[in-house]
Amino acid sequence: MAKVSVILPAAGSGTRFGGERNKIFQPIQGRPMFLRTLELFTRREDVVQVQLVVSPADMPEVSERLGGQLRSMGVNLCEGGAQRGDSVRNALARVRDDADLVCVHDAVRPCVSPLWIDAVFAQAHATGAAILAYPVHGTLKNVREHVIRQTVSRENLWEAQTPQVFRTALLRRAYEQPTPATDDAALVEALGQPVSVVLGDPRNIKVTTPGDLALAEAVIDSLPR
Ligand code: CTP
Ligand code: MG
Repeated sequence: MAKVSVILPAAGSGTRFGGERNKIFQPIQGRPMFLRTLELFTRREDVVQVQLVVSPADMPEVSERLGGQLRSMGVNLCEGGAQRGDSVRNALARVRDDADLVCVHDAVRPCVSPLWIDAVFAQAHATGAAILAYPVHGTLKNVREHVIRQTVSRENLWEAQTPQVFRTALLRRAYEQPTPATDDAALVEALGQPVSVVLGDPRNIKVTTPGDLALAEAVIDSLPR
């Protein structure tokens, strides 16, 4: 069994979600969504380390109110940076040397099934780099000022999700590059290394807006176990 070190970036500010507190604290079935996401990983036998990356603004609340609970779950707190990539880089520096794989998963994707995590871990173990993704099914329009400029072909287009899982040395090498990127796979791609895609599921939504939170609440009981 490969040993996996998990990084959960939670250090954003939730600008698009709005509200007074970071969206990571929003409840799903009565519990903060980031705790729900964490538990998907702390309960696994193949996970040897879990780091929750928290912004300096949220750190007092997380460590004072939930520090005890997080310690008992075996979760380490790590301070985040200005961009998501900075947050991941901070946690990557603390990844245990005996971890074969590093898994990066957004704290704001609470609707991932353990079966999908199994699948992406297995593929990363086999190939060195794998992410969950889902083919684009809609019709894509390039729009400017609310007018369509062009219909864009969806052929070969997939939407990247997380978890994204890599051999530890490969992700470390990827993060030595200064290039900003919106996901971790893009940095591995920039090294010219192949990244496998594992079929995800549209229910694995990233909570970006309040509408997404309603969707997450609606689908969470339907996930395969
Ligand atoms: N994240 C992070 N550090 C940052 C920015 C984002 O750890 N500097 C995390 C977020 O907390 C979230 C994940 O990366 O779990 C995906 O980012 P996103 O959905 O964009 O969240 P926010 O950046 O918080 O939201 P927004 O872009 O609307 O401000
Ligand atoms: Mg963001």
